[in-house]
Amino acid sequence: MKKIYTLTLNPALDKSTTVERVEAEHKLRCENPKFEPGGGGINISRALKKLGGESVAIYPKGGPTGEHMQLLLDKEAISQYTISSQNWNRENFIVVEQSTNKQFRFGMPGPALLQTEVDAILAYLNKLEDIDFFVVSGSIPEGVPTDFYKSVAKIVNAKKGKLILDTSGKALQEALKEGVYLCKPNIGELGQLVGEELDTIPKQEAAALKVIKDYNVEILVVSLGAFGAFLATKDQIYHVSAPSVNKKSTVGAGDSMVAGMLFQLAQNKSLFETLKYGIAAGTAATMNTGTELCKKEDVESLYHWITEHHMKNGTHY
Ligand SMILES: Nc1ncnc2c1ncn2[C@@H]1O[C@H](COP(=O)(O)OP(=O)(O)OP(=O)(O)O)[C@@H](O)[C@H]1O
Ligand SMILES: [Mg+2]
Repeated sequence: MKKIYTLTLNPALDKSTTVERVEAEHKLRCENPKFEPGGGGINISRALKKLGGESVAIYPKGGPTGEHMQLLLDKEAISQYTISSQNWNRENFIVVEQSTNKQFRFGMPGPALLQTEVDAILAYLNKLEDIDFFVVSGSIPEGVPTDFYKSVAKIVNAKKGKLILDTSGKALQEALKEGVYLCKPNIGELGQLVGEELDTIPKQEAAALKVIKDYNVEILVVSLGAFGAFLATKDQIYHVSAPSVNKKSTVGAGDSMVAGMLFQLAQNKSLFETLKYGIAAGTAATMNTGTELCKKEDVESLYHWITEHHMKNGTHY
């Protein structure tokens, strides 16, 4: 079985509840809260598990929120490696207002990591013996240098692992200089990287090819929300549209998409199958309310639909 790791520097315990109406000054009587572990890499490990894959989720764990997160991940039978952190993990708060079905998401800032904790993460990575895929997802907390993902890339590449990256801004740029196997920006993140507004398909494709030429990245999957995604390498571009579904919440679509692609890559599937399954997983996540990730049965049925209704081969290069 392939050895897969995910890294989440800024994990969160998501606390969700519902209330009839959100109103100032009144006491708001909420339903019993539901807790879920979250943060990019953790979500990818959880979605991958639902699809039938295994991974080790690496994350800093601090305080009672960290203990709670570990317990919840244990319940989902997710393998974990935690680095103890002095500061407590953050807790986000999500409220659905029943009268309007509006979702209010209160995100807390992530706690800073100490230098010793940052070093401990790198020391653990240096010790890993076999890495097939290493997934880095999410933002970088205070106390961590912006080139941290570059250091991760260096270690993973030296061990012949394949690095999958889903982040943005400077952290993305730095890691791309070092060497990334697959990177999944959304169209806004790609635009930010090339410093241009990408409002047409030709501009989007040209930007992806420029990133492949200017940086050290083999595969770029650019996600386009409800429009699906395209995959670019230096030799080919595949486009796949997302099937239209009854969308409930797009939260977690990007993480489910990365998990879907990882599931295919770990089974040595082709890049076209990888893209189609990733889109199926991303779209499947949007069929669920709140922070819920994709369900395997939805992913499979969307994947079959895409395969039947799409061109046999989406390449046009
Ligand atoms: N409204 C939608 N309808 C159908 N599919 C969607 C929709 N939004 C997202 N998806 C699916 O999820 C994939 C990833 O979505 P998106 O491009 O929004 O990623 P993202 O911006 O990285 O998401 P996130 O906010 O979770 O990080 C898309 O390629 C598509 O398959
Ligand atoms: Mg994203």
